[in-house]
Amino acid sequence: METTAFPGWIVRDAATFEQLDLALLDDLDTTVRVRYSSINYKDALALHGRPGVVRRHPLVAGIDLTGEVLASRHPRWQPGDVVTLNGAGLGEDLHGGLAGLAAVNGDDLVRVPAQLGPLRAAAIGTAGLTAALSLLALERQGLAPETGPVLVTGAGGGVGSIAVALLAAARYEVLAATGRPAELSEHLTALGAARVLDRTELTSSGKPLGKQRWAGVVDAVGGPVLAGALAGLQHSGVATTCGLAGGAEFPGNVLPFILRGVSLLGIDSVRTPPLRREAAWQRLTQLLDPALLDSLTRVVPLAEAKDAAASLLAGTGTGRIVVDVASA
Ligand SMILES: NC(=O)c1ccc[n+]([C@@H]2O[C@H](COP(=O)([O-])OP(=O)(O)OC[C@H]3O[C@@H](n4cnc5c(N)ncnc54)[C@H](OP(=O)(O)O)[C@@H]3O)[C@@H](O)[C@H]2O)c1
Repeated sequence: METTAFPGWIVRDAATFEQLDLALLDDLDTTVRVRYSSINYKDALALHGRPGVVRRHPLVAGIDLTGEVLASRHPRWQPGDVVTLNGAGLGEDLHGGLAGLAAVNGDDLVRVPAQLGPLRAAAIGTAGLTAALSLLALERQGLAPETGPVLVTGAGGGVGSIAVALLAAARYEVLAATGRPAELSEHLTALGAARVLDRTELTSSGKPLGKQRWAGVVDAVGGPVLAGALAGLQHSGVATTCGLAGGAEFPGNVLPFILRGVSLLGIDSVRTPPLRREAAWQRLTQLLDPALLDSLTRVVPLAEAKDAAASLLAGTGTGRIVVDVASA
């Protein structure tokens, strides 16, 4: 075990940047020297003292980590393996990735594909895993590029940006809904969106059934936006819901379900079983254009993680924020 000092973000009453006391870490089978973490919506909540994420105090924040195995009692992992881990309790009830060292369960780790490398794996993170799980869920229900367009809500955010890029790479016609069409149109079109919609188009009528415009939906927003997305689904269309950036309440109506036979699928990346994680990472590695991924990624040093997270709470974040844990 290294004896170097490892700085990190520890959530006590509030999140503080301090040297990690190694005695804080749990005795889990694999120790990882963390190289990168990232800022997801949940990280922003945890770092800014909002409830609902951190279930144990003190806790190392960070729901993602990417780094190198230092030691492992798990049969799959050797020192030097480059691995990534998203969710699985990190930063919620297990110590997370916003510190230089982590002790984790080897069962949940995914090997970082060599063609991706650790920085891009961190850029994908929970947001990208969730986008890929959403795509896989839609396809298990029969969605295919020829079925019709796919709407992505919260398209400017982490899940949304990667969903746009991923779906476009898989040859879907992507409609990207955002609250910032003027600011983000060019960016979203470059990621692969065929059209950019102002999200008020989804919420203005308030009616449960509208014109049938899309065959699939990847929703990261919830609230009235999700209700509007369901109202525009074609007959037998399918939607996934993973997020609540626009509200946890669902002002929905059963009419799309009973008159158009649509389906709504829940996505939980945190407890995704290992085989499904591997499948999602395989799809991400095959499909995502590295240059596009880089274009939606910003890297910040560890000490700036909390400041960088504020933009997600304000709804003004764009794409993905990677935290360079080695650069404090
Ligand atoms: N279930 C899971 O496993 C899972 C995994 C990852 C994330 N999530 C959830 O998914 C959501 C998105 O996560 P993220 O990391 O992508 O966050 P993010 O980067 O902050 O993106 C959220 C996006 O939602 C839109 N938005 C923000 N505030 C809004 C509001 N008041 N009304 C309507 N739209 C709003 C914005 O997009 P525009 O500016 O383009 O409109 C924003 O960029 C969060 O709720 C997160 O907790 C769930």
